[in-house]
Amino acid sequence: MATVSYTSSTIDPELSKQFESALARARAGRQAPILHHIGNTESDAGESFASRDPANPATVLASAHTAGRDVVDAAVAAARGSAAGWRNTHHEERIEVMRAAADGFATREMELAGALSAETGKSRLESLAEVQESHDLIEQYCDVLEAGNGFITPMKGRNGEHNVDVLRPYGVFGVIAPFNFPIALAIGMTAAALVTGNAVVLKPSDKTPLSTELAAEIVRNALPDGVLNVVQGGPATGTALAESAIDGLAFTGSAKVGWGLIQQLSRGPRPRPVLAEMGGQNPVIVTDSADLDAAASGIVRSAYGFSGQKCSSTRRVIVARAVYDGLLERLVARTGELVVGDAALQEMNVGPLIDEVIADRVERALKSADTDGHVVTGGRERSLPGHFFRPIIVTGLPRGHRLTREELFAPFVTITAVDDFEEAIGEANAVDFGLTAGIFTTDDRQIDQFFSEAEAGVLYANRAAGATTGAWPGEQSFCGWKQSGSTGKGGLGPWYPQGFCREQNRTFV
Ligand code: ALA
Repeated sequence: MATVSYTSSTIDPELSKQFESALARARAGRQAPILHHIGNTESDAGESFASRDPANPATVLASAHTAGRDVVDAAVAAARGSAAGWRNTHHEERIEVMRAAADGFATREMELAGALSAETGKSRLESLAEVQESHDLIEQYCDVLEAGNGFITPMKGRNGEHNVDVLRPYGVFGVIAPFNFPIALAIGMTAAALVTGNAVVLKPSDKTPLSTELAAEIVRNALPDGVLNVVQGGPATGTALAESAIDGLAFTGSAKVGWGLIQQLSRGPRPRPVLAEMGGQNPVIVTDSADLDAAASGIVRSAYGFSGQKCSSTRRVIVARAVYDGLLERLVARTGELVVGDAALQEMNVGPLIDEVIADRVERALKSADTDGHVVTGGRERSLPGHFFRPIIVTGLPRGHRLTREELFAPFVTITAVDDFEEAIGEANAVDFGLTAGIFTTDDRQIDQFFSEAEAGVLYANRAAGATTGAWPGEQSFCGWKQSGSTGKGGLGPWYPQGFCREQNRTFV
């Protein structure tokens, strides 16, 4: 594979050429509609909808159908029918099957990366990294299960009793995937559910049905019929899945939708787990001792990579007043060098937003920022047909302003000056979210204090290659604290697959 990660800065020219051909093929459109996959059958039930190129919304890339309640229930029934066979397959065999599926991501790397850039507008580097990440996520969750001996743990015994603790699958998991990592997150959640022995019904985002289907097809083909089912559609399909007979749900997306799903599943008929990852309002602290060039590099990369449409994107810069001007000057200079445009451009840094709904929200935010603060740079790029924005920097907003507290999924950064480190930490923590956070300082005591007091699950110090973004399976764990996550355990790391299991004690004499 290309071995590109989110913190890479170059791509081999030969791979780049292959990517361009793959992108052109994806943009030529897929003739066959994307179908629902239920057991060993395919279905085109439901109203048709189009997947569009956000860089040029007139281009239809593929069509899919909205699954209604009956289709979703049929998919859950198919999953239920295959669940016992899969659960009773020895964990080493499940691991073998999933590792074979991971190999499929290497074989179809360019096709997947081309579809990703066509459907989301992300750069070639981001797309190739995402395909690699998907492969590595599957491997990571296989490694975790393998290292845990299939989650079978002998316990102490007395009076001739033998005791074993076993983590066992719940049964059927629903997976609701987001548009922003339609391959890595769909496959990450799905792979963790599958390798631990659950059957799955996966619902891709209705903005990216093609990318997720291509990836799901690879995994589905490695599995017995019915173990992985895919239903396409939008929010109504998600609701139908949440209200179906699933035993648990994995979700990545907005806090609003995530909270709704948690409430829906809590209505019964019994408590059911919801593994939800729900965004961030991620701060970066820059102290007066920081290397300002490293800070500017890390912030620009994390704020504007994939146009700020990552849950991990940098949203707020909290900077010591003494270095405010120096940092702002560097940030403005670096954002001015970024190339806004289409994924077909090798040098592109900032692509389109996914749709006009988000673009409208950003336009409203810009108006509010202009009224209550100062828009230093950035705004809508009207010379291009898609939903493009030049990187936005906003200063001077009053403390606690809505734009510094809510998540705006866009290339939009606010800058706040502070007088001391305590104030910086306080401001960093003054949001309901707690996903990622970064610091730039040369004072080790401040790093220790940041690691101890920052209320977020993913912390980075002095990372010029990505101030708050670029976590990688097996390297960084990715846990949302506070409103950013529902379980206190995150993806990518050593504890995620266990969340798809319930514990069983076995005592035998
Ligand atoms: N793994 C992605 C990142 O950390 C979400 O940016």
